[in-house]
Amino acid sequence: MPDKRFVIPRQDINREAFAASIPDFNRRSEIMKTDMGYKCSITNIVRLTEQEKLFQLHILESREREIFRFRPGQFLMLELPGYGEVPISISSSCSNHEFLELCIRKAGHVTSALFNVEKGAYVAVRGPFGSSFPMDEMSGNNILLIAGGLGMAPLRSPLSWINEHRERFENVDVLYGVKEPSQLLFTYQFDEWEMINHIRLHTIVEHGTAEWNSRTGMITDLFNDITINPATTYAIVCGPPVMFKVVCSYLDKLGIPMNRMFVSLERRMHCGMGKCCRCMVGSTFTCVDGPVFDYWSVMNLKEAI
Ligand SMILES: Cc1cc2nc3c(=O)[nH]c(=O)nc-3n(C[C@H](O)[C@H](O)[C@H](O)COP(=O)(O)OP(=O)(O)OC[C@H]3O[C@@H](n4cnc5c(N)ncnc54)[C@H](O)[C@@H]3O)c2cc1C
Ligand code: FES
Repeated sequence: MPDKRFVIPRQDINREAFAASIPDFNRRSEIMKTDMGYKCSITNIVRLTEQEKLFQLHILESREREIFRFRPGQFLMLELPGYGEVPISISSSCSNHEFLELCIRKAGHVTSALFNVEKGAYVAVRGPFGSSFPMDEMSGNNILLIAGGLGMAPLRSPLSWINEHRERFENVDVLYGVKEPSQLLFTYQFDEWEMINHIRLHTIVEHGTAEWNSRTGMITDLFNDITINPATTYAIVCGPPVMFKVVCSYLDKLGIPMNRMFVSLERRMHCGMGKCCRCMVGSTFTCVDGPVFDYWSVMNLKEAI
């Protein structure tokens, strides 16, 4: 068995022809030696909140669009020419082969520059990288999807998958907590999730406003609103480590086995493919072995959280 860290994907593509067709992206030579970059145009930008925007990307070459496939939970390295490259979870449905959607928070150098680009700009992506949520294994069970803040970005792809295969799952509850109501992402889809897909959505904010008429408190308070059958429940938990640590230990006490809870572990990344060691936790590459881990593995990764 070859070591999967050193397998370069998509070797069937003619790299010389591809190289000739893309503009001079940052570190292009590095990209071409290590992995394939897909040239994309930004076809739409939606401002979701003060800090987050949703970028819709279209892979320009039809042949590349055909081969680009991903699974819920995987991420991309997104390059803004002249600025650099950042790892970003794919937020869209994996059945949408026309467009990729990335929900991006303005955090620093590259993401701030992205906030200034306009529709029609060119970017490049590498990937998809990493592990994914085991959607098939979860079929036939109750599903708990738990997001804190920007955790809704990686959660939206498995949620789309569930919506598109709704008949395969029993009860689906989404627990979603943010600091303030203005930070809620994808509010325009809430009705669709609830009414059409029969997802039970529970939102909570730490600090309410005069207009906020739902729950106020911490995300764990939402557990009082739902009944959990640990024997038939799988959970996906996305958010800051402190949040998924609290949530997963609560679910653990309820009796959900650790290998049926999944988290997405984010580390600083450079190559995304097990070469630079930037993302290592102990001897584990979070870019290749993760970012999706079951909670049992996370608990056994020293200093993971
Ligand atoms: C697998 C994975 C998936 C991700 N998915 C998303 C996503 O869907 N949407 C999104 O907005 N962001 C996502 N991130 C985080 C995103 O990659 C960082 O915000 C981005 O790299 C910051 O780059 P920058 O140049 O804008 O900021 P920099 O100027 O490099 O840094 C600004 C600040 O962000 C912090 N930071 C940088 N990289 C990370 C990181 N990887 N994790 C946490 N903090 C970081 C730095 O410590 C610093 O405080 C993801 C990260 C990983 C590893
Ligand atoms: S990001 Fe380079 S080894 Fe993981």
